[in-house]
Amino acid sequence: MNGILKTALAGVMAALMAAPAFAEGEVNLYSSRHYDTDERLYTEFEERTGITVNRIEAKAGALIERMRTEGRNSPADILLTVDAGRMWQADQAGLLQPTASDVLERAIPGNLRHPDGHWFGFSQRARVIFYDKADVADPPRTYEDLANPKYAGMVCARSSSNIYMISLLASIIETHGEAAAEDWAKGLYANFARKPSGGDTDQLRGIVSGECDIVLANTYYFARALRKDVKNLSGETDMIGWVFPNQSDRGTHVNLSLGGVAAHAPNRENAVRFLEYLASESAQEYFSAGNDEYPAVPGIGLSPSVARLGLFRQDTMPLTVLGENQNAAIQIYDRAGYP
Ligand SMILES: [Fe+2]
Repeated sequence: MNGILKTALAGVMAALMAAPAFAEGEVNLYSSRHYDTDERLYTEFEERTGITVNRIEAKAGALIERMRTEGRNSPADILLTVDAGRMWQADQAGLLQPTASDVLERAIPGNLRHPDGHWFGFSQRARVIFYDKADVADPPRTYEDLANPKYAGMVCARSSSNIYMISLLASIIETHGEAAAEDWAKGLYANFARKPSGGDTDQLRGIVSGECDIVLANTYYFARALRKDVKNLSGETDMIGWVFPNQSDRGTHVNLSLGGVAAHAPNRENAVRFLEYLASESAQEYFSAGNDEYPAVPGIGLSPSVARLGLFRQDTMPLTVLGENQNAAIQIYDRAGYP
């Protein structure tokens, strides 16, 4: 065999040896994310690894209930959802298992993952204060300010039964304790312009309609209206200002889109590979841009709509506390009479 052929063959062998193992099989994903852009996530993973992604998509509560009912025979390999407080519920139900992965531990900051690897954050969303620029000269600069009586009749937020509001209060309990958190919840509710109704987008629409001057909402609902047409909002975004709260103290409360390996995962190795893929640069860009969120991995570029919101200093409290304080938060909203 001549020299040239030998060298070429050696090259191919080396490439074959270097390429990540083209695995067999599949991974069963239970996901409450339903964004078209996620399609590309799955196809790219399948192309890269040869592992087929099977999906069950439903609301988080339904997926958790399904995994609970399926028990040890559950075909779920991964649970992918939003809000660390909700993932805490799945963890409390024993639906997740610890995962050790150098790739994930190196890529994802410690406060954005479970200390024993029960779940990992893959994108972030901040809960910020939006306001009517024409009517509010001096908007609240902190979450605490939202309870200041000078904003009486000006504030709107969604129901206290919503997991985003529960997790926000859980972070305030962690910072100030239950008594102060209860005073805050009472003061916040006393400042409401209307009874809580609708989702975060409806709060932003409340500014456009003039019903609300100051609202609490997750960043991606506004960023989405900058990127695509959201009825009764996109055309009016110029009138809306925003504040990343608590920039001069603990930073702005963030939450996550996150995933963990299911307790009885039949394809455990493929599941870990999928989560590691979600921490890769290209997946991080899709994942965050798909829902106008901030990447979880530091240094990844922001999508244009998110870049318009800007960077901010985030509260780096470990997000496991959002679950740990969940029951206390629910009881406080109840005592505060905030429906
Ligand atoms: Fe949401």
